[in-house]
Amino acid sequence: MIRQWWNEKVAYQIYPKSFCDSDGDGIGDLQGIISKLDYLRDLGVDIVWLSPIYVSPLADQGYDIADYYNIDPRFGTMNDMDELLREAHKRDMYILMDLVINHCSDEHEWFRKAAEDPDGKYGKYFYLERTDDPSTLCNWRSYFGGSVWDKLPGHDDIYYLHLFHKKQPDLNWENPELREDVYKMINWWLDRGLDGFRLDAIINIKKALPFRNYPADRDDNMASCTRMLEDAIGIGDFLGEMRDRCFKPHNAFTVGEVFNQKDEELPEFIGDNGYFSSMFDFAETIFGQSRNGWQENVDITPDDYKSCVFTAQEKFNKVGFVSNIIENHDEPRGVCRYIPEGDQSVVSKKMLATVYFLIKGLPWIYQGQELGMENLKISSIEEVDDISSIDSYKVARAQGVSDADALHMIEKYGRDNARTPFQWDSSENAGFTTGTPWLRVNPNYTEINLADEKDDADSVFNYYRSLICLRKSEEYAETLVHGDLTPYLEDMHNVMAYYRKTKDQTLLIMANYQNEPQKLPLPGSVKKVVLTNTSDPSFTETEITLDGYQAVVLEMK
Ligand code: GLC
Repeated sequence: MIRQWWNEKVAYQIYPKSFCDSDGDGIGDLQGIISKLDYLRDLGVDIVWLSPIYVSPLADQGYDIADYYNIDPRFGTMNDMDELLREAHKRDMYILMDLVINHCSDEHEWFRKAAEDPDGKYGKYFYLERTDDPSTLCNWRSYFGGSVWDKLPGHDDIYYLHLFHKKQPDLNWENPELREDVYKMINWWLDRGLDGFRLDAIINIKKALPFRNYPADRDDNMASCTRMLEDAIGIGDFLGEMRDRCFKPHNAFTVGEVFNQKDEELPEFIGDNGYFSSMFDFAETIFGQSRNGWQENVDITPDDYKSCVFTAQEKFNKVGFVSNIIENHDEPRGVCRYIPEGDQSVVSKKMLATVYFLIKGLPWIYQGQELGMENLKISSIEEVDDISSIDSYKVARAQGVSDADALHMIEKYGRDNARTPFQWDSSENAGFTTGTPWLRVNPNYTEINLADEKDDADSVFNYYRSLICLRKSEEYAETLVHGDLTPYLEDMHNVMAYYRKTKDQTLLIMANYQNEPQKLPLPGSVKKVVLTNTSDPSFTETEITLDGYQAVVLEMK
């Protein structure tokens, strides 16, 4: 595997709407981000991905783009964006935008022109089907619920395809003219100085055609649109072309949001000369998800978590450099998901940070994760903003789930959990805005906030700083970035342990993934305790005792 400049970096995701509001309108913005660049730099962040800030009606919080060439006025101006790039580059930081090209907004000019003249140039930018009888359209269910087909505005006999929300019409990648327009836009941003992209929902750009029905998987007589992806062959033609026409000439960094990939295709995705620089591992994210809806999801246990991580490591490390997360803007907070309910504490949060941050790959931090931010409690569906939570609520209620249980399900899995404003300090609205925040601030901001954590040597925040310093330290960087990963005590219950090794150095990362202390065998003599999340562990030549949720990084002789 060819080494890349970004292998040793630390990446961070900003959800701009909820990060920092500079003008008091309750919505985070680019000037807010600029004002926090030093904060990110001090934390040790190098690469920053911004969730979408393009002009958008925000039907899906910016993942519905109406103009790819402009910044939404709620987030700022193009001057602000240029300033952000300049200021980031001054600090040796890199900025990535979100590339949402499976679909655009129904308010995009292309879609409006398609509706005006479905037989003209822009009609071919979308998937349009003409029929008087909608029951003849294929039976795919969209990601956010309901059919993937909706009437083209102004036409009773033409339908357009949307795998996501009805305000997100899918772009027709089979059409070379559309692809040219997309590449032109990507190159325009890269020429402006942007460093790369996170590629949104990218696996969906290839459809299995012609459209056909699949066996229904719920009693709505529809089949999840993900079923179609199994039969969609040839995405590589599009991705390879985009790499060659856009990313490669600019040496851009790209990370793919890829679900439902075919494992045999991994080398083409992220191998040397892959379509993307890296892609996210979502094995843990999707664990326990039910086809029938959130109400049937199964909780992930520490042993499941470990096994997902190790299986993914085994698969990805052979071909490329994977991107590791515990949360993002589509997921609940990692500390509420991967630590058993009721066990969330500063110590357990640091344990989770240790085990995920030191596996092989590019570590990503989602805003607020570094503080140990937690899920949000909700008391009524009226409080919920996220469209996918609202759909899941409806599905659960239709299946007879009680209101209280359906709300609890959103508290566990809903996307608002990660989207609540960043908790800067304990002043009103957590210091996020002087106005009214667009989404409720998590009431726990008086206990969990950056200002307090900065001053507390034992905080989750300061622990993240230590982890970042460790991964970048002269002494251990080579091993932690490039060293092999091998599981240790893989079958031991509620233990997650692994080696990171080069020919000159062996690190052993061990975590007691439960409340009760555990005695664990040591495979050799310890040279040094490099890091721990509680007090120094007691150990002999052959054994170590770890407190509840204790994690240690040991250098072995
Ligand atoms: C991705 C985004 C998600 C969005 C969807 C549609 O999964 O992360 O937020 O809703 O794509 O663009």
